[in-house]
Formats: sequence, C-alpha cells, structure tokens
Amino acid sequence: MDHLCHTAPQDRDAACDAWLGVDEAAARHIQGGQGAGDDPDAVGLHQSGVAAVARAVGAVPVTADDVFIDLGAGLGRVALLTQALTGARVRGIEREPAYVNVARSAATRAALAAAFVVGDVREAALADGTVFYLYAPCTGPALAAVIARLHAVARDHAICVCALGVDLDAPWLRARPTADFWLTVYDSVLDGARPRAAGGDGPDPRWRALAYEGPASPGPGPSAGASTGAGGSAAGPVSSTDGEPP
Ligand SMILES: C[S@@+](CC[C@H](N)C(=O)[O-])C[C@H]1O[C@@H](n2cnc3c(N)ncnc32)[C@H](O)[C@@H]1O
Repeated sequence: MDHLCHTAPQDRDAACDAWLGVDEAAARHIQGGQGAGDDPDAVGLHQSGVAAVARAVGAVPVTADDVFIDLGAGLGRVALLTQALTGARVRGIEREPAYVNVARSAATRAALAAAFVVGDVREAALADGTVFYLYAPCTGPALAAVIARLHAVARDHAICVCALGVDLDAPWLRARPTADFWLTVYDSVLDGARPRAAGGDGPDPRWRALAYEGPASPGPGPSAGASTGAGGSAAGPVSSTDGEPP
C-alpha cells in the first residue's frame, strides 16, 4: 500500500484499481450496465475515492476490534482498503454477482481477509456490524429499510455509520460535526445498547496520506480531512431517485 501513499492524489484511484487488479469497465461490461438493474431504488456502481475511504477510516476511527460492513460493496475497494488499513473484520454486501466476483479476486490478489457476499442489503445479515459504510447504495423505500435494519442493530450495540454522498435522517443517529461536504460519520445514540469496543489500535497512520487530496507537488504535505472534491471516483453526491447518480 506504500506505493499508493506516494502516488499523486489524482492518480490514486487508478493506482488502487491496478493494485487490486480491478478493471471497472470490464466489470460493468460483464454485469451488463451500471448495476441498478430492475430495482427502482438501487443506485448503480460508482466507486468511493481512496481519499474518502481513508477519511472515513480515520474519522471513526476503525480499529482491529471492529466489524466493518460496506452496504452495497461494488468492486470491493472500500472493504479492502479498510482491511488493509485497520485489520478489522470486513464484509461487503453487494447485489451484483459479477461485482462480488471482482471483489473476491481482488482480495485474493492483495492477500486481504475480506468477505464478499452476494445479497440485498435489505435482507443480508448485519447483526455483528459495528461500523457501517454507505456510498448511497439505494434511495427511497430501500434506503429507509436499511436505516430501519441498522436501528435494530444499534438497539443491541452502539454503531458508527459512515455515509458518503447521502444524508441520513434518523433521530437515533447523531451526525458528528464535520467540514467534509461529502462524508458524514454518525454515532448511534440509544439507551441500553452495549458501547462499541474502544480497544485495539487505531488505523495505520498512512490513512492520513491517503486522505490528502491537495496539490501533488509542491504542497503542504499530507493532512487529514482535506477534501477538495467529490468523495466518489467519478461522480458527486448521489441524490437522484432514478437509480443513477447525476
Ligand atoms: C454507489 S455504489 C458504491 C460501491 C462501493 N460501496 C464503493 O463505495 O466503492 C452502490 C453499490 O450498491 C449496490 N446496490 C444497490 N442496491 C443494493 C441492494 N439493495 N443490496 C446490495 N447492493 C446494492 C450497487 O450494485 C452498487 O455496486
């Protein structure tokens, strides 16, 4: 992963795909489009930028004691980078089998212990999760169903939810103050829930270099939280209701 830290910010997403052996165009081709399929609430494939993932991991912060679940895991970038940076148990849930195959191959190639499950986030097992990540996998009733499922998990134990490009509106979720336009970290606030395990080391300090999105050179040097653009690799926030980001 060192080479990613030394890659210019604008080239980092492509370098990450090269490292993981992920060919996004080929994956879309195999899948036959962008992945929204016949589900009117589903959003198609858009990968989180490396910087957004690093900011999320650092902001939480995710530790080796966490169970991190990417809801709508796409080609696996979020789960794999998080595993590499934290040693957490990570799982990606994704409805498109072709994307899951790509993610599994990437995990093998990079020798990272990440599980990828073909499934619908409205039904897949979530009970063990302590940190959840959503880069707007769905909208409307599907998103509401996911939030309701996270509520059930949070009644048992405290969770963090990292939301990229989507605002979550639920009284039991408290947004942390942030200057980041795209990424918000939420903490569950429910009486009686077990606290999230605070043990374990924090993430690999290289998350700071990966989070940096300023000028490649000369520049102020790596710093956390500097976001100059959309969190996603190719698109801005996802807010449309027609299954595709704007
Ligand atoms: C915006 S992409 C995010 C991909 C990945 N999380 C990332 O940030 O790089 C949303 C993904 O969610 C998947 N998705 C949409 N609806 C879903 C559902 N109901 N269950 C599981 N996956 C879903 C899509 O196929 C797509 O890969």
